[in-house]
Amino acid sequence: MTHAIIFDTDPGVDDAQAIAIALAHPDIELLGMTTTFGNVTIDVATHNALLLAELAEQQIPVAQGAADPMVKTKNPPPGHIHGDNGLGNIALPETTTHAVSQSAPQFIVEQVNARPGEVTLVAVGPLGNLAAALQLDPSLPRKVKQVVVMGGSIREGGNVTPVAEANMFNDPHAAARVLQADWPLALVGLDATHRCVLDPASMEKIVAGQPRLGRILGESYAFYRRFYQQAQGIDGCCPHDSCALAWLLQPELFTIQEGYLSVITDGLAEGQTLLAPLSREFVDSRWSIGAAKQVCMDANGPAVIEWIVDTLTRNG
Ligand code: RIB
Ligand code: CA
Repeated sequence: MTHAIIFDTDPGVDDAQAIAIALAHPDIELLGMTTTFGNVTIDVATHNALLLAELAEQQIPVAQGAADPMVKTKNPPPGHIHGDNGLGNIALPETTTHAVSQSAPQFIVEQVNARPGEVTLVAVGPLGNLAAALQLDPSLPRKVKQVVVMGGSIREGGNVTPVAEANMFNDPHAAARVLQADWPLALVGLDATHRCVLDPASMEKIVAGQPRLGRILGESYAFYRRFYQQAQGIDGCCPHDSCALAWLLQPELFTIQEGYLSVITDGLAEGQTLLAPLSREFVDSRWSIGAAKQVCMDANGPAVIEWIVDTLTRNG
């Protein structure tokens, strides 16, 4: 089955790995990329999305999106994790292509309306573009095929605060709108992505299998790996954003729980994601806003890594 997707991203080192998968996998039709602030500023995000498509020698529309959160004050981008240029501060060529004239929300609404029921939105950064697209076309939830979000954490704890995952923390108001909308949505959060470690030997295979993107993937990984070694004592990195595509293509590698999602938008716990399991009644209807969602609560980490490596070495 071919998946027609729009990839919403803040590239970012792990985003770049996932973009390489989206560009390479034979069962993915990449309709376009929409960019957001998050790991980097919006200009850097757009530059990196354009550059990766160019280097892959594919003509993929890139629509620029959110430069800031909906409500809160933007946090500075984590240059110590992804590099100030979003790709490990490695030398990068200039881009020769430009973003399309539509904004990211306009691009999403146009593409979904052109192919109702066929388009999957895969969002791996803060969710401002999807929230704005919902505002632009409130009927969107009935027209998308599905939404896959990399973000959140139910039992795993946070990676930016003790309770909040980065994409949710960076724009909690947008996250609340997206995770509580009436559309079919799967959340691939830290409960799943922390079970997956892209080790150096696997990355070496990927570099060898990607003649066009190999240098960027390998050298940006080296920067990201140093952060994981220092901050988490892990020799490798969690390929968070590639896990969203792994769920889409290989859902059997993940353990799902169904329920209602909510996001804390203010105060100490801002960005925390909460799950009210479908299987239980709760005292207050506030816990069941919007349609029930599919939430990844675990993953077969080695099998996910094997899928990532297989995808990127088989489709160079
Ligand atoms: O928490 C991990 C997520 O935040 C990933 O999408 C990573 O790229 C950053 O955006
Ligand atoms: Ca990301």
